[in-house]
Amino acid sequence: MTEATSAAPAFSPRVFSGIQPSGNLTLGNYLGALRRFAKMQDQGIETIYCIVDMHAITVWQDPAKLKQATRELAAAYLACGLDPSRSILFNQSQVPAHAQLAWIFNCVARMGWMKRMTQWKDKAGKNSENASLGLLAYPALMAADILVYHATHVPVGEDQKQHVELTRDIAAKFNNDFDTPFFPSPEPIIEGAATRVMSLRDGTRKMSKSDPSDMSRINLTDDADAIAQKIRKARTDPEPLPSDLEGLKERPEARNLVNIYAALADTTPEAVIAEHGGQPFSAFKPALADLAVAHLSPITSKMSDYLGDVSEIDRVLGDGADRAHAIADPIVAQTRDIIGMVRSR
Ligand code: AMP
Ligand code: TRP
Repeated sequence: MTEATSAAPAFSPRVFSGIQPSGNLTLGNYLGALRRFAKMQDQGIETIYCIVDMHAITVWQDPAKLKQATRELAAAYLACGLDPSRSILFNQSQVPAHAQLAWIFNCVARMGWMKRMTQWKDKAGKNSENASLGLLAYPALMAADILVYHATHVPVGEDQKQHVELTRDIAAKFNNDFDTPFFPSPEPIIEGAATRVMSLRDGTRKMSKSDPSDMSRINLTDDADAIAQKIRKARTDPEPLPSDLEGLKERPEARNLVNIYAALADTTPEAVIAEHGGQPFSAFKPALADLAVAHLSPITSKMSDYLGDVSEIDRVLGDGADRAHAIADPIVAQTRDIIGMVRSR
């Protein structure tokens, strides 16, 4: 963590991150996000984690499925070790301060910034005239999520780095436009062997919940047989594992499996190669499958336990929203003061 510069006020360390409730949580979400979120809570920093339902609706969501996916994601956070007495866990729509600050940021951010975002280009595609306005403004809402808590650290996967950088640009422009050091410049935290878990069918594409092929990903709800089968059938080349990391360079599928192994075993790709280098995939894949099952099975079963008591999940989210409100509301009120909005109540 970097020191605050002398001119700026010192912001105490606070972690914020979010995940969209769009169903089908994957091994990528687990290794790139959920597991790291739970670990950060254990480092004695204040941690705030959000289920970003307002981001989810930037593309159409079936209402019943959105509800289900929100509770499933809450269950996944808890099953991965998030302790709601130490972290704040809530869904975004229940804390209006996010939308309130997002509007202000819509007026700070520039159209050109939004149109340059890789995610916008990927998701809007050629038919951008028909994409929702919310999809374009998505990063301004994300900036509001982070800055409405004056968060300083944002653990994310590689794909979200650009959005966190844009958050810094929005904070800097606001501070500059109104000549105040009010907002911190949050840092993306991207670390470990699994910041970008790739598809099991194509080592050049991200493992994603929206991939049409279920064989491309491991879902947090997959049972042991499904996990083992997906790893066994994962696309690879015919060569055995190389004896050093250099040998993985032009082999994206092999590299992905080594990275997944390293992340699950909490070690480095170097150590995995030192142990398994020279092995054919017929030996390495079963070892990886065993490791994945050993890690994910307890999580899957805890998730279904939590989902058996929806009212308890809703209670946890409600309690989190109350605590989030208490931090965010004064920050929005001060933001309004800074920009000259009259406080009439
Ligand atoms: P999303 O599912 O897109 O809302 O992503 C939620 C979090 O999971 C973000 O921090 C992402 O960067 C992370 N994430 C999603 N897919 C992957 C992946 N394949 N590898 C690593 N991290 C991922
Ligand atoms: N855009 C992020 C994703 O798709 C989710 C997100 C929304 C988020 N708000 C955030 C992540 C704030 C970190 C901080 O993964």
